[in-house]
Amino acid sequence: MKISVLAITAATLVLAGCGQNSSQSDQAAAPPAPPAQATPDQVKTLLAALPAPYSTGDVVNGKAKFTQCAACHTTVQGGPNLTGPNLYGILGRKAGSLDGFAYSDALKAAGWTWDAPRIDAWITNPHAVLASTKMSFVGMKDPKDRADVIAYLAVATNPLPK
Ligand code: HEC
Repeated sequence: MKISVLAITAATLVLAGCGQNSSQSDQAAAPPAPPAQATPDQVKTLLAALPAPYSTGDVVNGKAKFTQCAACHTTVQGGPNLTGPNLYGILGRKAGSLDGFAYSDALKAAGWTWDAPRIDAWITNPHAVLASTKMSFVGMKDPKDRADVIAYLAVATNPLPK
């Protein structure tokens, strides 16, 4: 009885060792890791760069509401394009400018640079901004939710301040 318990323990250790090795090599091949958690001070600095009402947005609610966007958009640096383009660095990025994403002609020709009020109008109703956009999103009706999503984007799509 004692011997078989030891044998099982040894086998478990060996298996655990193998598991660890294989998960390490999986990690090496995996896509870029999510950004480090922003500290409260870093969140404050990033929000302070926004105009009102976005500067006082609720990042936690914004993150929750961003699930409506996450079906089509990633936020991390080097994240993949899905149905929509990766949004890393979106505040201050020229509309329709990410290499390797097949934008609509309308967004490619838009000519503006995204700032908080532009994104606000866009996610209220993208088709009201550009009738022939490829972004099929019904729109986010609550202004506070939109401000919160933009506050979240400021934290999730910018490099963290030192
Ligand atoms: C059903 C998929 C889908 C959803 C949901 C969606 N988007 Fe998009 N988004 C797109 C597509 C597709 C484009 C490119 C539009 C074009 O080329 O006309 C786009 C473009 C954008 C752009 C402009 C990007 C650039 O590089 O110029 C922003 C900003 C954006 N989306 C933000 C959001 C936010 C914020 C939400 C959630 C509130 C959201 N989107 C929801 C598909 C989606």
